[in-house]
Amino acid sequence: MNTAEKWSISSWRNYPVSQQPEWPDRAQLDSVLAEISKLPPLVFAGEARGLTRHLGEACKGKAFVLQAGDCAESFADFTADSIRDKLKVILQMAVVLTYAAGVPVVKVGRIAGQFAKPRSSPTEKVGDIEVPAFRGHMVNDDRADPIARIPDPKRLLAAYHQSASTLNLLRAFTKGGFADLSQVHAWNREFVTSSEAGMHYEKIASEIDRALQFMRACGIELASEATIQQVDFFTSHEALILEYEEALTRIDSLTGEPYGCSAHMLWVGERTRDLKEAHIHYLSGIKNPIGVKIGPRAGADELVELAEILNPERIPGRLTFITRLGASLIEEKLPPLLEGVSNTGIPVLWTCDPMHGNTFVTDSGFKTRRFDDVMEEIKGFFSAHSKVGTWPGGIHIELTGDGVTECIGGEPDTSEESLELRYTTMCDPRLNGRQAIDMAFRVAELLRK
Ligand code: PEP
Ligand code: CO
Repeated sequence: MNTAEKWSISSWRNYPVSQQPEWPDRAQLDSVLAEISKLPPLVFAGEARGLTRHLGEACKGKAFVLQAGDCAESFADFTADSIRDKLKVILQMAVVLTYAAGVPVVKVGRIAGQFAKPRSSPTEKVGDIEVPAFRGHMVNDDRADPIARIPDPKRLLAAYHQSASTLNLLRAFTKGGFADLSQVHAWNREFVTSSEAGMHYEKIASEIDRALQFMRACGIELASEATIQQVDFFTSHEALILEYEEALTRIDSLTGEPYGCSAHMLWVGERTRDLKEAHIHYLSGIKNPIGVKIGPRAGADELVELAEILNPERIPGRLTFITRLGASLIEEKLPPLLEGVSNTGIPVLWTCDPMHGNTFVTDSGFKTRRFDDVMEEIKGFFSAHSKVGTWPGGIHIELTGDGVTECIGGEPDTSEESLELRYTTMCDPRLNGRQAIDMAFRVAELLRK
């Protein structure tokens, strides 16, 4: 039962494992994995420990988490502009949330490694043809062509290198002046003045203006103050392809402990969180902060077992349960889960993924989500926590900085008919930049209540 027994970097191989690609050439895979295991880690263990501390604050109600980014990053759409625009939206959301929550916002991207997707079915129908499912650019190509869908181990290496370049740019942007608070607030001001829904947020924006003015009046030099100029930004992805994660699991020279060095935080998805299987076993042994997605079929007993296996040392910030229950179920399903886990005393940070429980396919075949359902789930999340007396620790969002039309509603109002205009996601529908900022202002209003 306890998958934490006899852990080693490769012991997950002794457990049943789901959602792994069928690599056609084992020898080629092994040679790629050997190569990756000699490459430098993408993140350092000390940074992962830093994130655990920040998440620990959120676990105690002293911080709020914003985890956001693509459903699946793309090898094709890989430009400095798209990374910058995604970061920009996340920073804009974070400023609004920080002001409203009155606590630090821990910023974690679904970025620099989010290249692998679990699938409900091994094949999919594209138009008239049936092809093997797309499993993320780390595994195969999204083109609807049976040859392109054959898993290719060289993609693991490409994912490593794209993650390294992305991280490099993120570090440069977040420490080199791009994250300047006054600048980020000026972008939010543009949003507020350039749209009807935005005008509704004039009050919050003006209050932030006044807070900045107050800081200046107190003699705080905003242009040179490091805490205003720089932000800590962390990376995360679903730890799905365990061969890749294994190749990047390293022993930290300071503590002698194993860390997954492909990202600061790793999570397992709703489809791979079986207590007796390989993914949970792998997570149980690494020391990073980790997350588990929790869907509507989960029961309190199961979550208690997960918490015991994944956080036996009871470290605040070590374990996040990311609930994705759906707008219509959250009020009924979440309170018993919160109560069951709270009663154990094991510290768990709870965040809300309001995206994955609210996906549906339109008559014209677009996989989409309604902005209003997403907001409804967030409301349900806050109200469930307030009922049970636990802290609603953060939100987990799929978004992009681009002006895509993938989710219905929000700002600007995207109609069902306009989904076809700029529907570019390879997997799940994302909020576009303006919908995401609109959401942050709405969440800010909820937080202030
Ligand atoms: C995802 O986060 O993109 C995802 C597949 O989520 P889940 O495991 O919750 O379905
Ligand atoms: Co998704």
